[in-house]
Amino acid sequence: MTVNASEATTQILIVDDDSGNRDGLTLLLRQVGYQITATDSGEGALQHLAETTFAIVLTDLRLPGISGLDILRYSKERTPQTHVILMTGNASTETAVEAMKEGAFDYLTKPINVKELKILLDNALEKSRLVAENQYLRQQLRGKYHFANMIGSSPAMQTIFKQMEKIIQTDSTVLILGESGTGKELVARAVHFNSARKEKPFIAINCGAIPGELLESELFGHVKGAFTGAGSDKAGKFEAAEGGTIFLDEIGTMPMQLQMKLLRVLQEREVERVGSSRKIRLNVRIISATNADLAELVKTKEFREDLYYRLNVIPVHLPPLRERREDIPLLVKHFLKKSCEAQNHLPCTLNGEATAALQQYDWPGNVRELENVIERAVALVDGESIELDDLPTQISQHVKSDSGVSFPLFNENGVDLPALVAELECRMIQSALERCDGVKTKAAELLHLNRTTLVEKIRRYNLSV
Ligand SMILES: Nc1ncnc2c1ncn2[C@@H]1O[C@H](COP(=O)(O)OP(=O)(O)OP(=O)(O)O)[C@@H](O)[C@H]1O
Ligand SMILES: [Mg+2]
Repeated sequence: MTVNASEATTQILIVDDDSGNRDGLTLLLRQVGYQITATDSGEGALQHLAETTFAIVLTDLRLPGISGLDILRYSKERTPQTHVILMTGNASTETAVEAMKEGAFDYLTKPINVKELKILLDNALEKSRLVAENQYLRQQLRGKYHFANMIGSSPAMQTIFKQMEKIIQTDSTVLILGESGTGKELVARAVHFNSARKEKPFIAINCGAIPGELLESELFGHVKGAFTGAGSDKAGKFEAAEGGTIFLDEIGTMPMQLQMKLLRVLQEREVERVGSSRKIRLNVRIISATNADLAELVKTKEFREDLYYRLNVIPVHLPPLRERREDIPLLVKHFLKKSCEAQNHLPCTLNGEATAALQQYDWPGNVRELENVIERAVALVDGESIELDDLPTQISQHVKSDSGVSFPLFNENGVDLPALVAELECRMIQSALERCDGVKTKAAELLHLNRTTLVEKIRRYNLSV
């Protein structure tokens, strides 16, 4: 048995508590040139799988503790492209058939026949090669700077597109993290509508916008008489998403008692409507998102650690726009085209000064803010060239100092400091209210004000909450 050069970098994980078989296989496969990692337990296997992407896992079916089937499930969720081959002592066909249903590549009966093993490895590697080629071709077709209707040429976005390419091939639970307006919902939709679930529902629910007691019945449904006002049976969003994807937005705001219930749904893949103990099986992919620092909420015990790990199987980090300024020109072009078409406007361009200002600005509201700025500029501009004056003052009037703090430019009349301070105050309050979803107590904390002072300022500036 020999392997060619490309196979020499192929990583294989061998899991067996029987040292004779494990060492024998390790020696044999290492000699022919594969890179072998070997372990004697399921626990060890999961650890290796978490750290390395293997082409093939060759595991004993019956292991003390975490079994071969558990390894298969974990591997399928984490890296579906890894082929898992099971080894059984005395061909317990039933378990082997179950394993095939769960996505095992094949199974071998011990003692291992070297010829049979060689054929299986060849087939598995050939299949991996075809899948990789297919993925590459599809990526080429999609174009480099797009994924669905997401745009980005920065290395950070390129990495995210590659990650999404993998995610759409799986059913794994995804957690999307990023500041407000970075495109979290766009990612969730792109994943769903490019996955095998695309014909089934995509159900989005904003956990922050619904009070705790209502949220429970929204998510899980209720039966008639479960609480006052429950006049009839009602299915929840989880049931509504059957076969498709549920998008749990602002997951960080979920009340503790619901976190417990959600954890159970994730573990059991079953829901119980409020007021009923009948279990309903679910086949729903879960994508959640938050602009909060969830790991920090875990530390401060505001978010359950076990739930965090369940949700965070595949994290997608969307960087703020100010950390990927290379994307700004492409996004501007895209939003200009979109706004001009929507507003029936002749095609517009930005002049040099305006382009530079957009490039310099810090975009606390990220891509959403950029989109709004362009839409507004197209609506206001007289001709076809958008100039500095067509942009909001916070963008046009600021240039960056060396320290990174933005200062307004003086014009021939000097600068109206009270007006500027008021404008800054207004913007900061508005931004804090947005961040805190209009919860004044939280916004006041964020601004180091007491609540009464904040309420007074909101009234004075006539801000909408
Ligand atoms: N990479 C991108 N390409 C094109 N449009 C984008 C991109 N990222 C975001 N957008 C647009 O910006 C707007 C905000 O995106 P989205 O609603 O997905 O953000 P979000 O992270 O969910 O924000 P929030 O935390 O406030 O809910 C949307 O109109 C979206 O279409
Ligand atoms: Mg959102």
